[in-house]
This record gives sequence, C-alpha cells and structure tokens, in this order.
Amino acid sequence: MASVGLVGLGVMGRNLALNLSRRGYKVVVYNRTKEVTDRFISGYGGSGLTPAYSPDEVARKLDAPRIILLMVTAGKAVDDVIRSISPYLSSGDVLSDLGNSHFRDTQRREFSLDPSGIHYCGVGVSGGEEGALRGPSIMVGGPSKAWEILKKPMSDISARAFDGTPCASWVGEDGAGHYVKMVHNAIEYVVMELIGECYGVFKALDFSNGEISDIFQLWNEGRSKSYLLEISAKVLRRKDELSGGDLVDKILDSAEQKGTGKWAAESCLELGVPAFSFAVAALDRSMSSFKLVREKASSLEPNRVNKPNLGRREAQEALGTAFSGAQLCAYAQGFSLLEAARNEYGWHTDLAEVARIWQGGCIIRADLLKQIREALLSGAHDSILLDPDIHREIVKCDKAWRNVVSRALEARIPLPGFTSTLAYRDSLFTERLPANLIQALRDYFGAHTYRRVDREGVFHTDWSGG
Ligand SMILES: NC(=O)c1ccc[n+]([C@@H]2O[C@H](COP(=O)([O-])OP(=O)(O)OC[C@H]3O[C@@H](n4cnc5c(N)ncnc54)[C@H](OP(=O)(O)O)[C@@H]3O)[C@@H](O)[C@H]2O)c1
Repeated sequence: MASVGLVGLGVMGRNLALNLSRRGYKVVVYNRTKEVTDRFISGYGGSGLTPAYSPDEVARKLDAPRIILLMVTAGKAVDDVIRSISPYLSSGDVLSDLGNSHFRDTQRREFSLDPSGIHYCGVGVSGGEEGALRGPSIMVGGPSKAWEILKKPMSDISARAFDGTPCASWVGEDGAGHYVKMVHNAIEYVVMELIGECYGVFKALDFSNGEISDIFQLWNEGRSKSYLLEISAKVLRRKDELSGGDLVDKILDSAEQKGTGKWAAESCLELGVPAFSFAVAALDRSMSSFKLVREKASSLEPNRVNKPNLGRREAQEALGTAFSGAQLCAYAQGFSLLEAARNEYGWHTDLAEVARIWQGGCIIRADLLKQIREALLSGAHDSILLDPDIHREIVKCDKAWRNVVSRALEARIPLPGFTSTLAYRDSLFTERLPANLIQALRDYFGAHTYRRVDREGVFHTDWSGG
C-alpha cells in the first residue's frame, strides 16, 4: 500500500512524485493518459512509485486516511478529476489541489465536498520544476484537520527557511493557500518588472549584458540578495546556440502571463487595497505584447530615448539603492493585500509564517524576508513599511531612488515599476491626499455627498449657488 497518491504527471507532478519517493514515501501515481504513466514508471528505476490506471485504483492502493495530491492543469481539469476520484474516497481522506487554481474555485470545491467529510485543500506550490524536485515552498489552505495529516509529507519534501525549518505551513482556511500563492506570484511580477527596468536603464547607458550581469551578481551579494537577481545574472550571460551572440538579445520583447498576476490585481480592486504595482506589473506585460502598435508609434518618434544624465558608476549605485527600496515596496503591497484578504474572508493566516515559508524554495525567496518576518512578528500588520527598521531603510533609499527615476524619465525611459512603487511609498506616507477635491467634484455632479474634517456627519452642497 502507498501513503500518497499523485494525480497528474506533467512537469510538476513528475518531480513532486520523485521528491516524495526520495524521502521514503510510497507513492501511487496516475495520469489521464496511460502512456504518460507507463513512460514515467519505466524511466524511473526506484521502488517507491506504483502506477495506477484508474481513479478507483488510486484509492484502492492508498492507506487510510488517504492523501491525494492533484497536479493537473488549473480550471476544468481539476473539477473533472475531483468528479472522477471523489466517489472512491471516504470521510477523513485529504484531497489536495496543488496547481495554480483561483482561490474562489477552491472555496467552491471545498464547500461542495464538505458534506462528504472529505477534506479538500488548496495548496500553493512555488519553485517551478526544480523546486518540485528538490524542495518547493508549500502554502497549504483548507481545514486545519487536513493539515494534521498533510504536515509531515509536505514538510519532508519542502525547502528550508533561514532557520532550517520546513518551508511548508498551513496558511488559512478554504482558498487561503491559493490566495497566498497568487500574492506570491504578484510580488514575483513586480520584482521581475523592476529587474527588467534596471536592465533597460543600463542598456540606455550602453552597459553590455555581461556588465549588467556582473552588477546584478554584485547586488546579489548584498542587501538585495534574491533568487530572481541570481538568475537574472545568469540569463544575461547565456550565449545563443543559434547565433553565438547573447541569447537575451534574440528574445522577443513580448512578455506573457498565465493569470495569477491579473487575479491579484482584480483582488486589489475588489478589496480596495492600493497595491498599485500589482496592476502595473501585469499591465506592463500587456503593454509589451502591444508590439505592433509600439513599433508603429516608435517609428513616429525615432531616436526619442536619450542617454540618462547619469555617470555609469552613479547609475550602478543609484539603481541598486532604488531597487532595494522598490523591492521592499513590492513585498509591502503583497503583505498588505494578504492582511486585507484574511480580514475579508475570515482566514487565520499568520503573515509572519508566510514570510518564513517564502524564505526557501520559492521564486521570490530573498534575504529581505528575514527582516519582513521580524517586522510582522513585532506587529507591523498595517504595513511592513511602518516598522522602524524597514522605514529607516526606505528613507535611506529615497534620494538615490528619486534621482535615478527622474534622470531616466527625463531620458524618456518607461519605468512603470519604479514609479508605481515610489508612488505607493509617497501616497502611504502622505497624511492629506488631494482626494478632498475629488469628493467635492463627485458631490458637484452626482450629489454623492462628502464628510468633513471638522465635524461628524455626511454633507451635500448645492454647488450651483457658488
Ligand atoms: N510549471 C511550473 O513551474 C508550475 C509551478 C507552480 C505551479 N504550477 C501549476 O501546477 C499545475 C500543473 O502544472 P504543470 O506545469 O505540471 O502542467 P503540465 O506539464 O501541462 O501537466 C498537466 C497535467 O494535467 C493533466 N490534465 C490536463 N487536463 C486534464 C483533465 N481534464 N483530466 C485529467 N488530467 C488532466 C495532464 O494529463 P495528460 O498527460 O493526460 O495531458 C498532465 O498530467 C498547473 O496548475 C500549474 O499552473 C506550475
């Protein structure tokens, strides 16, 4: 008998199955297409994996309570698999979706399985193909009873945080696991946007790809150390096997997206959370895919981009500082969205615990998560930017951040990531925003009323008289 069932032997499923079997788990594996299962089993020499060729065979080969992990394409496939396997499961079994499902789908699925007693979990997994094999970050959502059953296997296969603890944890009820993964991806979008913008400024200053790679490598040895900086340095060094030049120069500047960034931006609008940069990072990918329009438009203004008025050394230092401040603002927006979501949906999400399990295995792992966790442990739930140490850090970045952004904007280099993070920082620290005038205008044309700073109540003015 096996202790874990794994359904879906695509890129992620295969590696998770191997990871589990390497840690001594007996795994029964099943894939919709029989040949995929056979190919996987024949290519694998170990003894921990057993094939199954139907959902009921998966159920029959598992010890109780059963643990079944689904790693199939998000959307209809998850509903199809649940429908096919749930009749063979019993009360107390744990059925978990480890794909990138929308948290509302997860809530719906948990609700519909609840009467059967089957524990349904939505689990965020980050780390890509490599992480699935060697140790991902695992964000488990669902009934806390299910976590008691999932805790050991999920902890065993996960990465390790800075203190050596497993990067796997329960992050809240029903859709919380997939929500936390969605926010993880939104932060990933912003950090990638910022790294891309740094690359753009360096290119405008005629730095070579190799030089930019060296700079990213250097930043990665300091305060901004992160997985995304590390791989950016590697990507910029990769040669193209077809042309011999740098591969990055041959890649079309049209970025794609699968949905989690858009979902996070939608959730910000729904919950009224001002995480500007999440929308900007997703929409700037859309701008990049407006390639044909951009080609036409740029032909109307040839040579419009100038060299920023920055020395090479100055640019390197100022951008490094700006990146560090902007990156903190990206994470701040993520934790602020998580705080709003846990209040809205009644989840018992421990934000400091999220900062801990993102320290290893996942795409946004970064040294700054140590400081963020400490800030959250000291109660900086309104915003991590209000934590005294983080605030001091942000203030230190200010001068260089503004200088490099204004020099680059003067040179007409688009910087939606840097400007949106800076706007977030400035708006958050501004006590009185000009929204009073917006309220007056709304009242003028729509009688929408307004509140006053000097007395309680709701007011309306007959503006025609003024
Ligand atoms: N790739 C990553 O880096 C990564 C990272 C984190 C999370 N994820 C998420 O993990 C999930 C799996 O990703 P992946 O990269 O492993 O995908 P993948 O390689 O495309 O594999 C998809 C799997 O889903 C199965 N499937 C598709 N439709 C099905 C259906 N209607 N019924 C039953 N099985 C069905 C496929 O079976 P067949 O072989 O029969 O087609 C295949 O085993 C996705 O939700 C993805 O977003 C991916």
